[in-house]
Amino acid sequence: MAGGGFATATANGVEFEAKITPIVIISCIMAATGGLMFGYDVGVSGGVTSMPDFLKKFFPVVHRKVEAGADKNSNYCKYDNQGLQLFTSSLYLAGLTATFFASYTTRTLGRRPTMLIAGVFFIIGVVLNAAAQDLAMLIAGRILLGCGVGFANQAVPLFLSEIAPTKIRGGLNILFQLNVTIGILFANLVNYGTAKIKGGWGWRLSLGLAGVPALLLTVGALLVTETPNSLVERGRLDEGKAVLRRIRGTDNVEPEFADLLEASRLAKEVKHPFRNLLQRRNRPQLVIAVALQIFQQCTGINAIMFYAPVLFSTLGFGNDAALYSAVVTGAVNVLSTVVSIYSVDKVGRRVLLLEAGVQMFFSQVVIAIILGIKVTDHSQNLSKGFAILVVVMICTYVAAFAWSWGPLGWLIPSETFPLETRSAGQSVTVCVNLLFTFIIAQAFLSMLCHFKFGIFIFFSAWVLVMSFFVMFLLPETKNIPIEEMTERVWKKHWFWARFMDDHHDDQVFASGHVNGKKSNGKSNGFDPSTRL
Ligand code: BGC
Repeated sequence: MAGGGFATATANGVEFEAKITPIVIISCIMAATGGLMFGYDVGVSGGVTSMPDFLKKFFPVVHRKVEAGADKNSNYCKYDNQGLQLFTSSLYLAGLTATFFASYTTRTLGRRPTMLIAGVFFIIGVVLNAAAQDLAMLIAGRILLGCGVGFANQAVPLFLSEIAPTKIRGGLNILFQLNVTIGILFANLVNYGTAKIKGGWGWRLSLGLAGVPALLLTVGALLVTETPNSLVERGRLDEGKAVLRRIRGTDNVEPEFADLLEASRLAKEVKHPFRNLLQRRNRPQLVIAVALQIFQQCTGINAIMFYAPVLFSTLGFGNDAALYSAVVTGAVNVLSTVVSIYSVDKVGRRVLLLEAGVQMFFSQVVIAIILGIKVTDHSQNLSKGFAILVVVMICTYVAAFAWSWGPLGWLIPSETFPLETRSAGQSVTVCVNLLFTFIIAQAFLSMLCHFKFGIFIFFSAWVLVMSFFVMFLLPETKNIPIEEMTERVWKKHWFWARFMDDHHDDQVFASGHVNGKKSNGKSNGFDPSTRL
């Protein structure tokens, strides 16, 4: 996932001296636990909501519908229940609200205390969930977990980006997403095991085991140091320099420290970060960040991630087979994310997104055709062969997502915003993402009930739209230093260049700086009349 506030960025592409020190390694483990926690929450809900004991206790209406079978209710509508969807979605609603508070605490208290706050929210949420006696307690637990997600997803990536030496920052960014996918897989495996527990408390174990990544995150937050960026931002300059020396493993930190001071000075000049974000010259990055989040969720990925076991059991798979298939898709998700880590800086972002677009479109259309023919409202004769084909198509779909929209939906916004809007841009990115995650979580089971197999056509149409967006409007950002995006990417783009008219730069320009560099105030060689 993305990080804002990359104040250690190498302005003008100059590299600073840095070793990979133990403290940086510990930070990686931190990232792992923050990502694991988010992923575990994404993955765990689908499994427990397909467990009969869980449904009987909290959603007896759904339980009766599932038991009644397809004679009374449509195959596609067995799990259609607002309360059940609220169990999944409440987390994201809480998360997007918490993002705003988290953006404040990361700035004023620091990254480390914000991660600690996230850990505490997680622990209380897990306890409430595992001990839940009624629906209210269950939802309250999910809301607290959501607050944890809001705080963690703002602070952890930011922390990572600031603590990482520049040359491994990109890899670390996708590493966070890798841990999200490991968290999802871990939850699927746990569900597979706990569903076999006879006493009716398997779901409690599933929800309770989220305590493991929660505790790791909390302990991690207590152990690590605050980032030098945050210390400088809050006026603790000597401490900031000492920490910088320690994490870089060298005394020669003057150039990076000077950069940090300058970045912090510039950031302070921007009095209203969110208003600044709305200015004309920030429009391309803002449009792209928001569009990528909406598109990422409209691929339909979370329909699979949240509801895979429910979906598979809708298709007539037995309980065990449904959970087992969710484990398979979870594993494909993890492995394909590794493909992205290796290829993103070689083949580039656009190639990955466009190839994945074709693969996702094809997979979804095949799934829709098979289901359309084989699974009707009150009967389903999905033979073993076709059932396997559906699982294979879901796997090719998940694989494509995992090396494209999954990690890049977070990576691209983080590398395109100029320094002075990067933090605010990150808040908007997280917020829009969680908003659309919430919408999918809340609506999917009802959409499945109404659209039936057509749900896959619906998502495939979105895949088509987003692929055209990538083709025409998303510039390649591979191997471009992040502080040079304006000059080398935006000002050269056939469409977005018209927004880069320096005459429209405001307070930052007026102070003589554009995107962290001294500006000579001259126009950059394109015709202002081409403005929209
Ligand atoms: C998305 C999540 C999704 C996950 C699946 C992330 O990039 O933001 O919503 O559940 O990928 O691996």
